[in-house]
Amino acid sequence: MIISPSILAADFCNLGRDIRMLEQSEAQWIHCDVMDGVFVPNISFGFPVIEAVGRMTDMPLDVHLMTIDPARYISRVRDCGAMMMNVHQEACTHLHRTVEAIHQAGMKAAVTLNPSTPVSTLEDIITDLDMVLLMSVDPGFGGQKFIANTLEKTRRLRELIERSGSNALIEIDGGINFATAPEAAAAGADVLVAGSAVFGADDPIAAISRLRNIN
Ligand code: DX5
Ligand code: ZN
Repeated sequence: MIISPSILAADFCNLGRDIRMLEQSEAQWIHCDVMDGVFVPNISFGFPVIEAVGRMTDMPLDVHLMTIDPARYISRVRDCGAMMMNVHQEACTHLHRTVEAIHQAGMKAAVTLNPSTPVSTLEDIITDLDMVLLMSVDPGFGGQKFIANTLEKTRRLRELIERSGSNALIEIDGGINFATAPEAAAAGADVLVAGSAVFGADDPIAAISRLRNIN
């Protein structure tokens, strides 16, 4: 299991300290949640923050754009040193073109689905994707409750990936904790995002280890 802690829940006055903590932990990626206040009802942080994180660590950055028209920002995300760019299916009119442009920029491409967007919408693009991110909460805020239907949806996505011969990983984001992580793992997740379960823990390094070794 790959653990991708979301720095949305980090202490922004001590972000460097929190990144160093992640480097000492079993987390493999760093999840960066960009919110524009339009696609989602919240504003988080933008490129200056991600650039600063990219400058201080070699850990791969998993950048989740919760913005309208994310294709506008492909070169900015690449210039931050991102390994993976996640765009929402709901925000892309020309999803195929956007995925191609992310690949041309030298990044891995992931498509994110909101809880109400069906897996079947990816049938004709699944073999082009490096990852699918299933939102297990409505995006916009950390600390929300895991939507149980995500488990069934994960199983359907796993089936689609196997049937099509796609190499896409499955990432699950929202409400991941010690109770929901084993269920997500059993349903077929490869990558778990965790914000409050990591940064809200008394011992974040131990929490990451426990999440990573959950199954
Ligand atoms: C939600 C974000 C998530 C969030 C996860 O809009 O995409 O990445 O930070 O936070 P927790 O793990 O607290 O649900
Ligand atoms: Zn996210």
